[in-house]
Amino acid sequence: MSAIIDVRHVNKAFGGLRVINDCSIRVEQGSITGLIGPNGAGKSTLFNIIAGALPLDSGQVFLDGEEITNRPANELFHKGLLRTFQIAHEFSQLTALENLMMVPPNQAGESLFGAWFRPARVRQEEAQVRQKALEVIDFVGLGHVRNELAGNLSGGQKKLLELGRTMMVDARVVLLDEIAAGVNRTLLGDLVTNIERLNRELGYTFLVIEHDMDMIARLCDPVIVLAEGSVMVQGSIEEIQNDPAVIDAYFGAQP
Ligand SMILES: Nc1ncnc2c1ncn2[C@@H]1O[C@H](COP(=O)(O)OP(=O)(O)O)[C@@H](O)[C@H]1O
Ligand SMILES: [Mg+2]
Repeated sequence: MSAIIDVRHVNKAFGGLRVINDCSIRVEQGSITGLIGPNGAGKSTLFNIIAGALPLDSGQVFLDGEEITNRPANELFHKGLLRTFQIAHEFSQLTALENLMMVPPNQAGESLFGAWFRPARVRQEEAQVRQKALEVIDFVGLGHVRNELAGNLSGGQKKLLELGRTMMVDARVVLLDEIAAGVNRTLLGDLVTNIERLNRELGYTFLVIEHDMDMIARLCDPVIVLAEGSVMVQGSIEEIQNDPAVIDAYFGAQP
C-alpha cells in the first residue's frame, strides 16, 4: 500500500502554545482513516495544515509522493485534496442544485480565450455541468430537494450537499471534520453509506475526524489517536479500544 497523504514530523504553535508536536501520520490510498482524540488534541489544526489552510512551523506534507508543504488550499483543491466545504453564507440563497454547479471545475484545459470565442462550447459545458450536478444530487439522495434554497436544508442535508460538492471536482482525498455533529440518525446513515460508496465506487480516500465512535467503528480502518498534538497509537478500532493508554486518556473518563 502507498500513502496518499504523508505527514512527516510536523510542528505548529499558536503563540507560545505548541499544538502539533512532531506529528507523523500516513493515510493509505483507498483507505477510510479515522482521526480521533480528546478536544484540543490538535485534530482540526492538523486538517488545516494538510489542506493548506494554515502554515506549519516545521515538517513536511506529501500528497501521493509530491511535497505539498504550505501550498495554498486552492492549489491542493485542483490536485483533488479537499476538505468538505461549509456551505458559505452567500450560497444559502442558491438552490441545492445551483450550489453544486458553482463548484469550480478542476479539470485542466479550460481556456479563457476559448470561452470568449466559442460561446456555443461554453453553453455546452454549462449543460454538462448541470447534467453532472443532477447525477451527483441523486447520488447523495437530495434529488427531491434540488430546487430548495441551500439555506433551508436541514443540517444533515447540508452535509450531504457538501459531500456532493466534492464529487463535482473528482476529488481523490477528502478530509471530513466532524460531519456527524447535529445530524439526525437517518441522514447520518445516508452520509455513512455515501462515504462508503464514494470510497468503493469512485476510489476516494477519506480522513475522518469524528466524535461519534459508532460512526468511526463502522467506517474507519485504521484509526489514529491523536493526543497533545502527537500520535498516541494507530490500529484497528478493536486495537484502539483495547489499548490501555487510549482507555486511560480517551475512554477513561466515560462511564
Ligand atoms: N487559530 C488559533 N489560534 C490560537 N489557538 C488555536 C487556534 N486554533 C486552535 N487553537 C488551539 O489549538 C489547540 C488544538 O485545537 P484543535 O486543533 O481545534 O483541536 P481539536 O480539533 O482536536 O479539538 C486548542 O488548544 C485550541 O485552543
Ligand atoms: Mg476540531
